[in-house]
Amino acid sequence: MDDIASIRSRYLEQVAQADSPDALESVRLAALGKKGEISLKMRELGKMTPEERQQAGPALNALKTEIDAALRARKAALEDAALDERLKGEWLDVTLPARPRRMGTIHPVSQVMDELTAIFADMGFSVAEGPQVESDWYNFDALNIPPEHPARQEHDTFFMHRREGDNTPPHVLRTHTSPVQIRAMQDQGAPLRVIAPGRVYRMDMDQTHTPMFHQVEGLAIDRDISMANLKWTLEEFCRAFFEVDHVELRFRASHFPFTEPSAEVDIRCSWQGGQLKIGEGDDWMEILGSGMVHPKVLQAGGIDPNEWQGFAFGVGIDRIAMLKYGIPDLRTFFEGDLRWLRHYGFSALSVPTLAGGLSG
Ligand code: DAH
Repeated sequence: MDDIASIRSRYLEQVAQADSPDALESVRLAALGKKGEISLKMRELGKMTPEERQQAGPALNALKTEIDAALRARKAALEDAALDERLKGEWLDVTLPARPRRMGTIHPVSQVMDELTAIFADMGFSVAEGPQVESDWYNFDALNIPPEHPARQEHDTFFMHRREGDNTPPHVLRTHTSPVQIRAMQDQGAPLRVIAPGRVYRMDMDQTHTPMFHQVEGLAIDRDISMANLKWTLEEFCRAFFEVDHVELRFRASHFPFTEPSAEVDIRCSWQGGQLKIGEGDDWMEILGSGMVHPKVLQAGGIDPNEWQGFAFGVGIDRIAMLKYGIPDLRTFFEGDLRWLRHYGFSALSVPTLAGGLSG
C-alpha cells in the first residue's frame, strides 16, 4: 500500500502544479485515462486473491475518487482565475451615460392626422378609409360629377392604364377624399359621422401644389342636421386644432357638385412680420370647402334623401399643417430631407390627445 500512498502524493502534487487546462488534462490522462496508472492498477485487481482484493479495492477506489476530486477542484480554480483575468480586460463602467442615438421623428402630416383624429373622435366621428386607386364612379359619378361635367377637367386626374381593347372607364388615382363619403354611406348607412384622412393625387406641381397631397373629408348624416351644425363643428375643430380660444369663420357661397348649398370657409387671421396669427387681424384665409350633402350623393350612397340629410367638408391637411407649424414650402414635405424631418418632425412619444395637448 506504500505504492498507493506514493501514487497519491505524486498526482496530488502534479495536479497542484498544473497551470493550464492542457497541463491538467495530461495529468488526468496519466492517472485516470484508459491507460492511466490508476486505471491499470484497478485492472490488476482481477488477478489478486480475494483477500488482497478486499484491501486493495477500496483503497484504489478511494484514490481514484480523491484524484478525480482534486482534478475538478483545480480545473474550477483555473477557470475562475482565467475569468478574473478576462474581466480585468473587459471591465465596463455601467454608470457611464448612454451613447446618444438618433431617433426618427413623426412627419408633420402624420402628426396633424393624429391631431385631427383626436379632435373629431371627441365629437363622435370615427375614421373611414377608401382605396387610393379608385373607380371613376366613386371618384366622380357618385359625387354628382357626370362625365361631361367641367369639374372633371379641373381635377387634373391621373388615369390608370387600361388593357388594349378595354373600353370601360379607367380607374383613377383618387383626386379627393370625397369618394370615401360614398363608401362610408354604403358600408355603414345612416346615421353616420366619419372623417376620412388620406392621400389624394392631382397632376400639378409648383410651390403650393404637389402631385400627391393629403385631405381629410368629414361627413355627418342624421335626420335633422343643418348648416348650423356644420358651422359649430368647424369652429370647434379650428379652435382645438389651432389651439386658440377664439376663431372666426366666414362662410362664402361657392359651388361643389356634391353639396347644395356649398360654402368655402375662411378663417380670420393676421400676418405680422411673416408670422401668421389665427383668430385675430384683418385678413381671411381659405381653409376648406363644405356644404350640405346633395340628395343625389345620398342616393348614390344608398341613403334615402327624404329621410336623411347631412353636411360634408374637405380640408387640405398639408395646408393646415403648414399654417399651424409655420412651414413655408409644401414641396419640402415630400423630399425626405433628414434635416427637414428632424427640424419639423415630432417625437414619437408626443402622441396628440385633447387632454395632454395636441402638439406635444
Ligand atoms: N372634394 C373637394 C376638393 O377636393 C373638397 C370638398 C369640398 C369636400 C366641399 C367636401 C365638400 O366634402 O363638401 O376640392
